[in-house]
Amino acid sequence: MQVLALAGSLRAASMNRLMLAMAAECAPVGMKIDIFDGLGDFPLFNPDLEAPGCVEPASVARLRLAIAGADAVLIASPEYAHGVSGVMKNALDWMVANGVFVGKPVVLWNASPRASIALAALRETLSVMTADLVREAELCLLIQGRDGLLPSNPDPLAMQQALLKLKARLCEQAAASLL
Ligand SMILES: Cc1cc2nc3c(=O)[nH]c(=O)nc-3n(C[C@H](O)[C@H](O)[C@H](O)COP(=O)(O)O)c2cc1C
Repeated sequence: MQVLALAGSLRAASMNRLMLAMAAECAPVGMKIDIFDGLGDFPLFNPDLEAPGCVEPASVARLRLAIAGADAVLIASPEYAHGVSGVMKNALDWMVANGVFVGKPVVLWNASPRASIALAALRETLSVMTADLVREAELCLLIQGRDGLLPSNPDPLAMQQALLKLKARLCEQAAASLL
């Protein structure tokens, strides 16, 4: 079970990226979580760049192929001024026309429980892209560094339980596809 993890923050000390790294460490047996680190290389989205004859930017193709090859996508993204981070929204806009999110199981996590507006906006965007939002595996957990030190995992059990819910959903879908 391959899970692709996307962080919507480019900050070196990003708590959302750290949350994804923590997730990779407590993934259940049979699940591998790989963090995609290329969102900062994306050009600003412009539909003109998708016109026939345009070459897909390499960074965009890399994400498209990584999503296509993953069983699920795990997103952790900050809220900036009551909106989704530009980094995440830009990446998602590039993934609309290629349809790679259609039916793809997606889980939304957040390292700051205050960031509910961006979380709701991400849900809306991914719903309209017809991703398969795995709501039961969502997790908002305050990840906070102190005195410049990186925090340790505040609740590994909550992460494991959320990932197990994702695993259960993926197993159900795999079983249903065999019928
Ligand atoms: C410009 C800016 C605007 C922000 N606006 C909000 C906001 O509207 N709501 C909120 O909950 N946090 C807001 N924050 C706080 C960040 O979402 C928070 O620090 C988050 O942990 C950053 O994610 P990261 O650690 O992954 O980089 C803002 C931070 C910045 C720098």
